[in-house]
Amino acid sequence: MSPAKTVIVRYNRVNRVNHWITAICFVLLVLSGLSMFHPLLFFLSGLFGGGQWARAVHPWIGVVLLVSYLGLIVQFWRENLVHKDDVEWMKQMRFVVANDEAHVPPVGRNNAGQKFVFWSMTLLIPVLFFSGLLIWEVYFGEATSIPVQRVAVLIHSLAAVAAILVWVVHVYAAIWVRNSVRAMTQGYVTPGWAWRHHRKWLEEIASGHDKATLRKRP
Ligand code: HEM
Repeated sequence: MSPAKTVIVRYNRVNRVNHWITAICFVLLVLSGLSMFHPLLFFLSGLFGGGQWARAVHPWIGVVLLVSYLGLIVQFWRENLVHKDDVEWMKQMRFVVANDEAHVPPVGRNNAGQKFVFWSMTLLIPVLFFSGLLIWEVYFGEATSIPVQRVAVLIHSLAAVAAILVWVVHVYAAIWVRNSVRAMTQGYVTPGWAWRHHRKWLEEIASGHDKATLRKRP
């Protein structure tokens, strides 16, 4: 295989389907959640067939999100473990934002920004889920007192705002780093992309320490 035509598989089909189920659930949760958050945003409930429907489907989508995100945790926790290099990368983050990665220390498969998104969501999604259970009126309304529900609503809303902010950072970074979205749609990146954004990862692949699959460019 000529090197110019070789690409590196970054996400396999299972990774990608799992990711997009998570992403779709998240967007649907944000839309249905916002429709219940403030009367000005109530119009969003029209997307779900009205207020009653938005309220009924929101928690169930939350259940699917939790299960789906657990799938991502199982697949990605290892590569998101934090190392000493991550601190160095964080210190030079202004160069990443300025798209001047020559000044940024080389990183492995994931950079500290990606790890931040992963661990933030790993914390926030269970918080959203369990605080959501406490205010799921149909099933748990009788089991929880009003003061508990009030605290749960507050925690649920704060966690939702935090998760939306983390998600905005994630999508912005995905678009900012050119051809990252292709990694999550078609699964592959070019060696040039890996050299530019994840040089240590490329070196690990070249030395055989990372068993990433190589294939012909489609
Ligand atoms: C809907 C909009 C979204 C877009 C456009 C998007 C885009 C992407 C892209 C392009 C990557 C690959 C980045 C790379 O390899 O450099 C990625 C990875 C990932 N995304 Fe998303 N994403 C979205 C939503 C979400 C949501 C809602 C979550 C979690 C709640 C999420 C969690 C992840 C995780 C865990 C990874 C894998 C990174 C790792 O290896 O840990 N994404 N996403």
